[in-house]
Amino acid sequence: MTSPGPVAAAECFDIGEFRSFEEFEIKYAALATELGRAGKNPAAGEIDFLHAMVDLDDVRYPGGIGSRDYFFLTALVSILAPRRVIEIGTLTGFSTAIIAAAIHRQHGGGDAITVETIDVHTHCSIDETKKIGFEIRELIPDLASTVQVHTRRESDFARHLAAPNEFGLAFIDADHRHPWPLLDVLRLAPYVQGGGWILLHDIQLGTYGEKERSAGRSLEGKTPYGAEWLFDRWPFRKIRSFHIGAIELPSRKAALIPFALNLMERPFEVTDHAAKRIRRALYQSFNELL
Ligand SMILES: C[S@@+](CC[C@H](N)C(=O)[O-])C[C@H]1O[C@@H](n2cnc3c(N)ncnc32)[C@H](O)[C@@H]1O
Repeated sequence: MTSPGPVAAAECFDIGEFRSFEEFEIKYAALATELGRAGKNPAAGEIDFLHAMVDLDDVRYPGGIGSRDYFFLTALVSILAPRRVIEIGTLTGFSTAIIAAAIHRQHGGGDAITVETIDVHTHCSIDETKKIGFEIRELIPDLASTVQVHTRRESDFARHLAAPNEFGLAFIDADHRHPWPLLDVLRLAPYVQGGGWILLHDIQLGTYGEKERSAGRSLEGKTPYGAEWLFDRWPFRKIRSFHIGAIELPSRKAALIPFALNLMERPFEVTDHAAKRIRRALYQSFNELL
């Protein structure tokens, strides 16, 4: 399949960083307006829960999203009030717990599974003695039963978890090397409602790494561009909050294919056999979009 030629990137609504609790309330209102829910307010207990999470900042496990990002994540879940969310990239389960808590504050009690979270590993890279998702029980003991953790799985497992268009929101924070984020989006798209949103983490990681290295500062990990290129070139509505961004799915999912073909022209950051496998998986993912 050849590329259909350039696909124009869309304008981005930049809400800025959520740097404080005051900003949380102001930006929540602006985000609600942008999302067509003007007048919506944070749910009872939402800000108290965020305070409790911020209080943990000094003793947090590494690898999870930072407070500015989970303020945005909480606001988005709170405003859109999805009943089911899928997450790719669980690690300790910190972001999973944030999502589950925000859904619970919108819809109240009940034992229904609200968050399906997928990780390719069984144990955490930051501490191999800990199981993927171990932190969920520590952070939200009363809500742990509303989360299902799926290990040794990738985004293609979504088809076993939901009917088409069932998820109200998705969060992708897994392998950031191009074209993994693209593949994750394409695999989830059939199962997220048309006009629904997918949240991407680390949408400035590549540029950040390049700036640090050219300033002579060394970095421990790699800083791939996968999520950044995907977000920057996204041709539909999108909202940025510094490192984290939300992209809106078109109602006709097949409209993603020309965009994907275009982005696949960028050199893959995944190499060798893995690159071949991902290219094949990308083409396969098109079938479910038609
Ligand atoms: C940055 S961590 C996720 C952090 C988590 N979202 C949080 O904020 O608390 C990335 C996780 O993605 C997982 N991962 C990497 N590649 C993956 C893939 N292709 N599919 C699913 N999970 C993947 C890793 O095992 C790791 O646990």
